[in-house]
Amino acid sequence: MLLLAVFIPEEKISEIKNAADIVDVVSEAVLLKKAGKNHVGLCPFHSEKTPSFTVSPDKQIFYCFGCGTGGNIFSFLMKQQGLSFPEAVRALGKRYGIDIPDRPLSPEQKKKISEREKLFDINRRTMEFYHQALKSSAAGQVARSYLQKRGISQKTIDDFKLGYAQQGWDNLLNHFSKKRISPVLLEKSGLVLPKKNKAGYYDRFRDRIMFPIFDASLQVVGFGGRVLDDSLPKYLNSPETPVYNKRRSLYGIQRAKDKCRSAGSVFIVEGYLDVIALHQHGVENSVATLGTALTPDHVRLLTRFAGRMVLVYDSDDAGIRSARRCIDTFWKEHVDFRRQDVYREENADTHILVLPAGHDPDSFIFEKGPDLFMEAASRAPGIITFLMNCAIEKYGLSTQGKVNILKEMQAPLAAINDRVAQGLYIQKLAERLGIAENAILERVSEVAAHITKRGFAADAPAAAADSLYRSGSVKPASEGQHSQTEAIGNRFERQIVAMMLQFADILPEVVKLNALSYFENKTLKNLGEYILKSDPTSVDRVSELMSRADSDQKQTLIASLSMVDESWNMKGCLRLLGKFVENGQKMRDSGVLEEQIKAAEQSNDHDLLLKLLNQKQKMAERSEKQKSAALTEK
Ligand code: CTP
Ligand code: MN
Repeated sequence: MLLLAVFIPEEKISEIKNAADIVDVVSEAVLLKKAGKNHVGLCPFHSEKTPSFTVSPDKQIFYCFGCGTGGNIFSFLMKQQGLSFPEAVRALGKRYGIDIPDRPLSPEQKKKISEREKLFDINRRTMEFYHQALKSSAAGQVARSYLQKRGISQKTIDDFKLGYAQQGWDNLLNHFSKKRISPVLLEKSGLVLPKKNKAGYYDRFRDRIMFPIFDASLQVVGFGGRVLDDSLPKYLNSPETPVYNKRRSLYGIQRAKDKCRSAGSVFIVEGYLDVIALHQHGVENSVATLGTALTPDHVRLLTRFAGRMVLVYDSDDAGIRSARRCIDTFWKEHVDFRRQDVYREENADTHILVLPAGHDPDSFIFEKGPDLFMEAASRAPGIITFLMNCAIEKYGLSTQGKVNILKEMQAPLAAINDRVAQGLYIQKLAERLGIAENAILERVSEVAAHITKRGFAADAPAAAADSLYRSGSVKPASEGQHSQTEAIGNRFERQIVAMMLQFADILPEVVKLNALSYFENKTLKNLGEYILKSDPTSVDRVSELMSRADSDQKQTLIASLSMVDESWNMKGCLRLLGKFVENGQKMRDSGVLEEQIKAAEQSNDHDLLLKLLNQKQKMAERSEKQKSAALTEK
């Protein structure tokens, strides 16, 4: 299957939307039961025992009250089957008999696509060639016994299409020359190399166990090859090619993705054989990075399939390095994304699992079994807690030790955006070290200031750690299952946007009172503005808004806010809006306090800062109370 990002005419999308029914489509994947106006079932995107996955035939949208996933008919297919938008449109077009013409491609595009197709084809045939050699050739006996010695079953060999590249310089070359495939193309695939004297080519992989690497849509993108003994290099991998980029590839993703979805989590390990051993023991939501650290591209790919990420390492050191890199990654991601003004759905919940000394996941699971592995995983701390534990272990609690611990923790702590979450961590560290919170706060603001100087956006450290906070590595004060949107903005603002989504008659009033100008939460405000631009008379306004949304997060947010059923009427709506605006006016008056906080931050006056933050929190609590009073009154 080819992933063509071809343009699909708008009217075709509408035609499909009119023909298709979301209940029909979802029913193929989820057992739905009617409940009032809606249908409910067990969520396909996280594991649950009581149904919180809700489909609305009226609005043509779905939303899970458990995990916060939501969208329209297209996003359902995209999420459930891992399709791109054009692929989802095409799949529905096919199903409802609506023909979608391809926009003609430029000769250059055609060439690129056909080259990629050819490389995928060569890779697939190479995989078959090596796989057959492993399974049935006489020469494959050494490889068969090697794998047997390592405990790899026949089924696993088939599941992962493991293979064997025989000894010799031209086995693969000859195989393909018989099939009239040019060595030039083979060279592009990385499977053969030109000889030094330029007279011909030779096979890259010789006398190695072969691990084909797939992408999420089951194309073979490259290979890894392991020696059968202790010789070096232990692994040889495909070079980067037009179809293989190791920073984007994850070994095992093709078999892991469904399990990641149902488990809601993924294990990220380091080696081919680690993935294989885990799968063979039933831990199928496992993938490996391919000789690189986890990259932002990996994270982005994985968030399509799982919320909780467990990074598995064989030592504290590797774990620490990776935890730090993760913090950096989230950090940078945020800055970049901001520049593009795209919201990132960062719901990754990242943990670090360090196995007992001397074990990698492969040896651990063979020796101790899957239950002990899962048990260890369930205890894996979040990134910040992990770093805290490591620092305390490393330096001890002498005076000098404490100083060192503080030094090590200041950057990670500064990366936590949410003041409350940051405060809680600071409090936790203060308790464990037996020192004043104030002293820690001081250190943390030092780093934050330093980072600002280095040229990040002023609130970048904050934003970076905001992702950590939402990632669950840093738990907010109230534990328990929260749908993602519940964490966004305050109830009052959410209520207003929900009203705008569900009761279009109110839109002129929202404009008149300039209600959006009082929003504190940027995401909600942005969504409000987006709604104001929509056509209030459109029958499938909500689904329409989703289709046009420029990010997954926006879609999910629309779904969640549209699904909360309210019986709106003009009188109630006007009252809600009035209260909100009145309240906003009050808050504006208290803006003076904000200014003071900023000034205190800039002049590094920590005592004053603490006092002001305290004051701010009290004020926020008071107004939150007022807001909920206003809401229940409605
Ligand atoms: N790796 C690599 N090139 C090497 C060594 C390692 O690409 N020369 C990558 C491979 O993806 C490998 C991973 O790093 O799977 C982990 O390496 P290592 O722990 O040395 O190997 P294992 O996967 O544990 O393999 P084995 O158990 O067979 O020793
Ligand atoms: Mn190993």
